[in-house]
This record gives sequence, C-alpha cells and structure tokens, in this order.
Amino acid sequence: MASLITMDDLSNEDILAILDDAEILLPVARGQAYLPLLQGKLLGNLFFEPSTRTRMSFETAMKRLGGDVINLGDVSSSSVVKGETLYDTIRMVDGYVDIIAMRHPRQGAAQYASDSAEVPILNGGDGAGHHPTQTLLDLFTIRQAHGTIEGLNVALVGDLRFGRTVHSLSHALVRFGCSLTLVSPDSLRMPSEIIDDLQVLGATITQTEDLAAAIPSADVIYMTRIQKERFPDEDEYQRVAGVFKLAAADLAPAKGSMIVMHPLPRVDEIAPDVDATVHARYFEQAFNGVVTRMALICRLLGITVPQTIDTGNGGES
Ligand code: CP
Repeated sequence: MASLITMDDLSNEDILAILDDAEILLPVARGQAYLPLLQGKLLGNLFFEPSTRTRMSFETAMKRLGGDVINLGDVSSSSVVKGETLYDTIRMVDGYVDIIAMRHPRQGAAQYASDSAEVPILNGGDGAGHHPTQTLLDLFTIRQAHGTIEGLNVALVGDLRFGRTVHSLSHALVRFGCSLTLVSPDSLRMPSEIIDDLQVLGATITQTEDLAAAIPSADVIYMTRIQKERFPDEDEYQRVAGVFKLAAADLAPAKGSMIVMHPLPRVDEIAPDVDATVHARYFEQAFNGVVTRMALICRLLGITVPQTIDTGNGGES
C-alpha cells in the first residue's frame, strides 16, 4: 500500500481529492457529527523528534473517525535507548498497526521506513527534508481563504534552508502555478537543488532579504521559525536569530485578502498583535491538520469518504 513521503507521491488530482474529502469531514473534525469510518483501524505514532500539532492531530483524526492510536511515546523511555535500530522498530510496529505516522531527525528516514514496512508510512517530518502532511493542511488553509490554490503570490519567509515545511509546500505551490517570493537571510536560502527542481516545474521565483517589499503583492505570507536545533554551530544561529519579525503595523500595505500563515510553533516571528488582525490564519491552519489527516488516512487505507454527512440537526454537509 502507498506511503506519503514527499509531495511527489501525490498528483495534483490526488491533492484536490484529499482537500475535497477534508472539506466534507469538517463537521466530524469539529465533533458535530460522528462517522466511524476508521473503526477497527490502528495508527502507530512514531515520533523520534518533538511535536505537538502533527502528533496530536494525527491522533485526533484517528479518534474522531472511530479509530485508535498507539504511541511510541518519549524516545528516552523506548528501546531506542537500548540501541534498537530504526529498521527493527519499524518491522515490529508494522505488525501492530494498519498505518504509521512518523517523524525522525534524519533526512530520508521516512523513505527508509517505507522501504522496510508493509503498512503505509506518513512522513510527519524527516530532518530538514520534507513535511508533506503539513503541505496538505497548508493548501487546505489557502484554498479556504482564497477559494483556489492556483496562481497566487506566496511569500515564504525565514529558514528556507532547513525548513522542511517550505521544502514540501514550495513544490506543491509551483505545481499549481503559484509565484514564489523566497525571503530569507543569505545563509538560510532555499537549497539550490530545490530551486533547480522548482525551475524545472516552471516556477516564477524571486529571492530577497526584504520582507517589507514582499508584503503589498502577497496573497499569502508564510512565516517560519529559524530552527535553532538544525544549526551545526550556535554562532551561526545567533547571526540570523530574530531576523524577520512581523507585527500588525507591518501589514498596513497588505491586500485585505492576504493571509499570514505559520506551521507553528512560533518563537518571535509573528507578534501577538497580528493574532487579532483579519490576516492571521495560523490557528485555523493548525486545526486543519485534523481534517486533512483524516482524509489522507482514509485514502491510504482505501476507505471512501461519503460525499455528504448527516450532522444530526436536520442538515447535511
Ligand atoms: N507544524 C508542525 O509540524 O508542528 P509540530 O512540530 O508541533 O508537529
């Protein structure tokens, strides 16, 4: 059965079908309708790196659809500390569950797990590699706000070198004809091999260090955290820490429809006063992780999402 390791594993048609299913599942994600599509199914959550949203939204998605979850839990209390290899851990959990969500600090680990497992692997982030399930919720959020994911101007801001969310998202956006403004310090530019891939896909890309100049024409400003944990050297991190900060006043020249997104957690990239503006979408974005992961799990397990759902109040969604 197929895994989701990078956005290359999904066609544009697959992506749109998942977003459509996610839309239908919104009342289930909100607890307004009960739909046990995943009853009897078990997800293994294997997070070898910290996570709040990805791990919890996978768990919420399973449970809202009547399924269940087992967790590796804290790595320090698992047999990983006794020296168990990733291969052995995956081979063993493969026998326990129907599908595995995994995060690992090593780039390529999710592909390695997929090559070792019978059940589908959902890449919840592999080092500075990819984060495709985040991309699905990002696209869902963009479509909710703009009614489309095609032909938009998207500014990706911050740590584009180590940021796996922007590596996956940029790929998908270009496939839907979006123009990208890549805003980063010189030392945190998008890796050249990713730029090359995007250009093969026909991307229109501007690279800059000037966030203010990118605001007026943007339909989406996607902020990211400078990821201290990925820097080989503390001094290098200190040179770029806090370089991009967005406050409500900075958004005065923005289009009224422009949305500010962030995969979260934020540190100081977005001031709290942005939260109350019409532009802020990052908390809705985090919620959308539930509904898109519901749709994705159903798809990978071959379970059809019904096209209408009875919300129990006389209406159907
Ligand atoms: N967006 C995201 O991946 O958040 P977590 O690190 O909390 O899972």
